[in-house]
Amino acid sequence: MMFFDSHCHLTAEQFDADRDAVIQRALDAGVTRMLTLATDVASSRAVIELAERHACVYAAVGIHPESVRAAEPGDLGLIRELAQHPKVVAIGEIGLDYYWNPPDSDKATADLQQKFFEQQLELAAELDLPVAIHDRDAHNAVIGTLQRTFRTAGDDVGNARRSVPLRDVPPRGVLHAFSGSVEMAQTAFDLGFFVSFGGPLTFKNNKHAPDLIRALPLEKILIETDSPYLTPHPFRGKRNEPAHVILVAQRIAALRELSIEQVAAQTTRNALDLFRL
Ligand code: NI
Repeated sequence: MMFFDSHCHLTAEQFDADRDAVIQRALDAGVTRMLTLATDVASSRAVIELAERHACVYAAVGIHPESVRAAEPGDLGLIRELAQHPKVVAIGEIGLDYYWNPPDSDKATADLQQKFFEQQLELAAELDLPVAIHDRDAHNAVIGTLQRTFRTAGDDVGNARRSVPLRDVPPRGVLHAFSGSVEMAQTAFDLGFFVSFGGPLTFKNNKHAPDLIRALPLEKILIETDSPYLTPHPFRGKRNEPAHVILVAQRIAALRELSIEQVAAQTTRNALDLFRL
């Protein structure tokens, strides 16, 4: 059995003491591929370095919405250069965070997030790379931005560049740690997006995510840890790590009454398709 952790932060300082051991533990558990994502230029360099040292680690480069205020002129140019590296398989993580930056109380930061989000979507389109999207309390703004950027099949939405039949919509990205509605997921699928689930799916008090898992096609679902954050039950409160993605797969298997093998195979295939591996 093989698992793909589609979203982790292996260059976070929480792993400084034992990073290689964490990766080895994932490999030993069957987590044979990991996508480690950046949040700014420095971590974009770091994820590439790590991916160069480990065949099982792939990199995503980009500027996270929480990093846009600290970004400097020229950072997007550096991201563009770094994205040419052969181990870079996505632009991410990018998006909007209205939890820490509600537009009502800080419009300037919301505008800046929007600008970086759109510019990095453009960059991904130009470089023909998928995107990994962070959406916290910004569902409508994120979906609206994606609709303006990409045309849905049969629709003429916004300023999209070309019309393509639905079956030909290429995989374009993933909404990570998905917390939207079934309807939002469907809109995302039509735009060529997957949705991804992690540790919160295993929390006893989470009623929403299990309903989503039962309602959405497994062909559109990825699994992730977002480690070192969002540690799944029963390790909640401790540091998360990629080996724990198996707990997420087990939870999906239980909710869907599938075998863990089926969930492992389908979610791995989905990630390989999206990241073109
Ligand atoms: Ni993340």
